[in-house]
Amino acid sequence: MWISFAGIITNYKDVKQFLVQKGHKFRSDTDTEIIAKLIKHIHGLHPNYSFRELVEQVIQQLEGAFALCFKSMHFPGEVVATRRGSPLLVGIKTKTKLATDHIPILYSKEHSKLKDHRPHGHEIPAHGLARSQSTSEFLPQGDNKEVEYFFASDASAIIEHTDRVIYLLDDDVASVEKEGVLKIHRLKRTLEDTHAREITTLKMEIQQIMKGNFSSFMQKEIFEQPESVVTTMRGRINFDSETVVLGGIKDYIGEIRRCRRLLLIACGTSYNSAIATRQLLEELTELPVMVDLASDFLDRNTPIFRDDVCFFISQSGETADTLMALRYCKQRGALIVGITNTVGSSICRESHCGVHINAGPEIGVASTKAYTSQIISLVMFALMVSEDRISAQPRRSEIIQGLRNLPDQIKEVLELDSKIQEISKKVFEKKSLLVLGRGYNYATCLEGALKIKEITYMHSEGILAGELKHGPLALVDKGMPIIMICTRDNVFVKCMNALQQVTAREGRPILICHKNDQEPQKYGSSVLEVPKTVDCLQGILTVIPLQLVSYHVAVLKGCNVDCPRNLAKSVTVE
Ligand code: M6R
Repeated sequence: MWISFAGIITNYKDVKQFLVQKGHKFRSDTDTEIIAKLIKHIHGLHPNYSFRELVEQVIQQLEGAFALCFKSMHFPGEVVATRRGSPLLVGIKTKTKLATDHIPILYSKEHSKLKDHRPHGHEIPAHGLARSQSTSEFLPQGDNKEVEYFFASDASAIIEHTDRVIYLLDDDVASVEKEGVLKIHRLKRTLEDTHAREITTLKMEIQQIMKGNFSSFMQKEIFEQPESVVTTMRGRINFDSETVVLGGIKDYIGEIRRCRRLLLIACGTSYNSAIATRQLLEELTELPVMVDLASDFLDRNTPIFRDDVCFFISQSGETADTLMALRYCKQRGALIVGITNTVGSSICRESHCGVHINAGPEIGVASTKAYTSQIISLVMFALMVSEDRISAQPRRSEIIQGLRNLPDQIKEVLELDSKIQEISKKVFEKKSLLVLGRGYNYATCLEGALKIKEITYMHSEGILAGELKHGPLALVDKGMPIIMICTRDNVFVKCMNALQQVTAREGRPILICHKNDQEPQKYGSSVLEVPKTVDCLQGILTVIPLQLVSYHVAVLKGCNVDCPRNLAKSVTVE
């Protein structure tokens, strides 16, 4: 048996105990092995079951989030794949056009239960699935019937082979049988089911997922930001008429304007993008805005009302906590808005409406270009909601012009790369790095510190400068490495105050400030000058030096920049 497995089986101990009682021996303590043993066990009881039927029996016993792909010497030439909670897609490559652009779902007619081999109260149906009456052919047109199938969690893994994919839904069981025909089965028919899966054509280019001249995907993705911010805005902002249209939510704008409050729910970097835009959303929508970490939101059983509008921000669109929070809010009748970078992802599909941030594939585990595109997407949302407010027009206008100049300003910031590399040499052997700022730059502090700890394994903390005297100031002395962001906005004077408190304790921070701004510069051990933009967009320009610091420190420390230890790109488990 060959199994490719992503995810986690939460009841694997129960299943293992059951299988041990039945005489199965285990070589490891992994959840993957229980899947292999369970299928073997069911095959022993039902030697006439087809490969696909066996997999269907297996997944009914499993709890957790998983994507699975099976091959077996007992069923040569066949593959069966399934998912629950973890993403899985099937790529299809043919020489000629397919006869159809969708594949119908085949349902079980019977569903009786068997009691002799169920682990801990879980039930396994006794009979295999009966085929439905569907006759749709899923074959290429013409004489050449050759088809290749690719099973993957992410489209970037297969784009070099084909751009046609089917995104499987939870509990879909896809099987390729001997004759090479793909079928998708489900045990039960539900009201929400669309009874077919569409074949989607990917818009991704191969070069988008190649590293090119860069040493890592993260470095490439940092340097792509002058272009990725443009693709986020493309077709949505008219810089001359100063109008913004987000096609995915335009039909819901009236409902959004009438809502009780906006909730922004996410994890990690995506959460930081919500922090980065909260102030502007409050200002332009004049609505109460709550920002929550998805895990904490669920832990608190947060009250949700029918007239709430809940945003779920996620690069992958598959983050388990965010997805569960989405389902929690949906059950309570709120309007669900998805902000994702992955077309066809679970969050995308389960939202009522949403915005694709269009940052292009992000492969490095550390999120960089998705963060800046998430901010821009939320800023565009705020601009769209406030379009009918006359008093907001001057503010809207300065932001829209700020967005227009952003790509060139990002290029200017990226020119700091070699200076940042030199600065990184001074800090890479230190134990800790504090990042201080306030106002719109607070999110930059959180995001910069997250990047640093994630890929360099160095302790780092993003600290709101207003909180300095409530504890963190005790950490400051001449040996403590500090990065401080001090740009000319409504909290500049307060930031200068914090800066002086740091220098009075012999701290010599690395400063991120505006170009040619002499006042803060005299307090810095080194200075990184960034161009000035509108306050609510400044975080996009101040975060890039921190992305680069984390990248260079990770390289200097010999860390794996794209795949940091213990972390995954899509966190599909709680
Ligand atoms: O795919 P998502 O945006 O939902 O992922 C959420 C976090 O896991 C993610 O942003 C994580 O914090 C990043 N790896 C940080 O760089």
